[in-house]
Amino acid sequence: MSQAREFRIPRSIRFGSGASREVGAEAKALGGSRALIVTDAFMRSGGNCAAVEKTLQAAGIATHIYDGVNSEPDLTHVRDGLALQQQYSCDLIVALGGGSPLDAGKAIAVMATNTGKIADYMGSGKLTRPGLPLIAIPTTAGTGSEATQFTIITDTDHDVKMLIGSPFILPLVALVDPDLTLAMPRGLTAATGLDALTHGIEAYVSRKAQPLSDLMALSAVRLLGENLLPAWERPDDQEARSKTMLGALQAGIAFSNSSVALVHGMSRPVGAVFHVAHGVSNAALLGEVMDFSVPGDPERYADIAVALGLNRQGNAEATARAGVARVKELIRAMQVPSYSQLGVSKEKLDPVAGKMADDAIASGSPANNPRLATRDEIISLYYKVL
Ligand SMILES: [Fe+2]
Repeated sequence: MSQAREFRIPRSIRFGSGASREVGAEAKALGGSRALIVTDAFMRSGGNCAAVEKTLQAAGIATHIYDGVNSEPDLTHVRDGLALQQQYSCDLIVALGGGSPLDAGKAIAVMATNTGKIADYMGSGKLTRPGLPLIAIPTTAGTGSEATQFTIITDTDHDVKMLIGSPFILPLVALVDPDLTLAMPRGLTAATGLDALTHGIEAYVSRKAQPLSDLMALSAVRLLGENLLPAWERPDDQEARSKTMLGALQAGIAFSNSSVALVHGMSRPVGAVFHVAHGVSNAALLGEVMDFSVPGDPERYADIAVALGLNRQGNAEATARAGVARVKELIRAMQVPSYSQLGVSKEKLDPVAGKMADDAIASGSPANNPRLATRDEIISLYYKVL
């Protein structure tokens, strides 16, 4: 019999058009009186931040804004956000934006109640106290951060993307409103959507997969396989946007309760060293890493192919390979830039490839891959995707 596993999701998830307008009611239900909205300058200049602020204020909640998360979050963002939280004695965090403000909001919420520095908690299960109540409102259909017990904070001094995991990081409330994604430009739709697809695939093939995460993972792959390209081709296609966002949410729930694997393990060092955006970095790796990994669990990769709409072929391996080809086609169709197009050359990779492979392995994610990769194999995969 299989070992007992836990499955965690936010206490409340509201999904659908207009969900973000429930922020006032949810904040009140959580007992908040002073909210710190963690976001970026782009959100603040658009209408989304003002709408959230207004809704909170209408519910009798004072608002303060930290809009400094204009890149993937690092130690500075956590420190600056925390300073504002303390200055105004905020008792609730509302994180609004793409994965970056959400991850920053998560880190700020837990560091408001835990001692020391965020870097002390790198790894899994080290936080000792629940954070401030956190409401997450994603504006991209990608990271699934609104429903995960992880945050990624870059340690810029050491060029490392720290993975911090704890049930205390999981937002209490996720307000997932596809209307907020209608304004996403094509490049962002592709990068964030392919990040979500990577979550679904990795959660399903992971050695830590479990029956409940499998349901979410396969459903996510199906939704994203059917709707991501239409959402990219027709940005105002509300149905495609909505189903893509549902897929991203499900993929987030899946990997939060299973894990990611080799793609994410290898992708984080690329982001930390070459400053390639997370989704783009994953997309560049996904096809080759799937090719490498299929022999580790052809049956599971065949299930992925079927979720992508393909028929089963002679054997699991053949079906799985057809699925990999479909994923590569999708990435090509969405015109995601390759590493070399982003300026990562062999000459630049040579001096850092070893450290990147070491950091990938140290993150723990590659150990969840169905086919384990040695340090040398990871290095050669980096060169292969160039
Ligand atoms: Fe990701």
